[in-house]
Amino acid sequence: MHDFFPGLAGIPAAKSSISFVDGHEGILEYRGIRIEELAEHSSFLETAFLLLFNHLPTNFELDQFTRNIFHHRRIKYRIIDLLKSLPEQGHPMDALQAAVAALGMFYPVHDVREETTRYLTAIRLIAKLPTIVAAFARLRRGDEPIPPRDDLTYAENFLYMLTEQVPDLALTKIFDVCLILHAEHTMNASTFSGMVTASTLAAPYTVISSSIGTLEGPLHGGANEAVVHMLEEINSEKDIPLFVEDKLSKKEKIMGFGHRIYKVKDPRAIVMQKFAQQLDNPNDTRSLYTLARALEREMESQVGPKGIRPNIDFYSGIIYHRMGIETDLFTPIFAMARVAGWLAHCFEQYQENHLFRPDQIYDGPHRRPYQPIEERIKGQCEE
Ligand code: ACO
Repeated sequence: MHDFFPGLAGIPAAKSSISFVDGHEGILEYRGIRIEELAEHSSFLETAFLLLFNHLPTNFELDQFTRNIFHHRRIKYRIIDLLKSLPEQGHPMDALQAAVAALGMFYPVHDVREETTRYLTAIRLIAKLPTIVAAFARLRRGDEPIPPRDDLTYAENFLYMLTEQVPDLALTKIFDVCLILHAEHTMNASTFSGMVTASTLAAPYTVISSSIGTLEGPLHGGANEAVVHMLEEINSEKDIPLFVEDKLSKKEKIMGFGHRIYKVKDPRAIVMQKFAQQLDNPNDTRSLYTLARALEREMESQVGPKGIRPNIDFYSGIIYHRMGIETDLFTPIFAMARVAGWLAHCFEQYQENHLFRPDQIYDGPHRRPYQPIEERIKGQCEE
């Protein structure tokens, strides 16, 4: 009889040199570098390069990487046609997943282990995800997509394609750091699902579309969206103790809290909180930041000692909300950043591939008789 570990909790599924997390000390490193340092000094594209190639780029390498990304930001008109044909009330994560899967049909990959092909697929995916997200956001409102602008940085360009306005430097920096903080996080549900797909030697477009599907759920990337909906439901600070008590007594989850690995406050949430505070308008009587701080205090007193503390999604949604971004775009933005980490894991998997094929513990019946259809009674298919 095998041991059974629900959710594979605590079971290493790979050896990896991409990132490291210590959930008790609150440490997260990408390729050995603390995220706080990257948040302060790096940019999303530089961090993506680091994750993919295991070293910080030289000026020349970063320039070439950036130019390649910029060159591939446009999407084919047939991808735009595909996005146009999707229901406008559908979730943008589903649109993103469909478009990324479709990219694989336009750019077939013959040998996933070939280096140039890998480089080009990584460039295309990092380059095109923001264009797809912004295009769907505009198309569903009846607006034409805005083509990328080569004079803008990666973060500036995304916000410009989304809003038709070039953001100021402070906002661009905050958004870029949010992308850095979302770019990678060791083994997790979406990374694992991508690695399972990669282990069949499927192409990176298919791998990334698997990961996008997995990220969508409210227990994973979808939590940032759920946090804003939850805070909007709370009328005022004084309702928070009752709100928390009620949820906990019904064994309901409070979104943006808890993590399989972190037992202290998620280090990414600490950086995010500073930005949320920076963007907060203290005169706003419905300030989500004020409510979030009060909720964090209440949660700390009620479940903090159990290790249930804010995760990255708790403050990221508040930042994007303050930036005027629609709530259902939060998770696609998460995907735009995480694609760097997913690709790094995908390539690591190709390198030392071993097909994922776990076992199961069967607990169903044996030798069940086949019953002719005329003898079957609804809800009782045997005996
Ligand atoms: N609110 C209230 N109680 C919680 C929360 C929460 N957010 N998170 C965990 N708990 C409680 C559970 O009810 C459970 O209590 P019990 O032991 O009395 O039964 C205990 O803590 C363990 O919870 P599990 O869900 O079993 O722990 P797990 O490690 O699987 O949870 C998870 C991790 C799924 C993230 C969970 O904390 C959760 O659902 N949080 C809310 C959703 C969320 O914010 N997800 C984003 C995670 S970050 C990311 O994916 C980028």
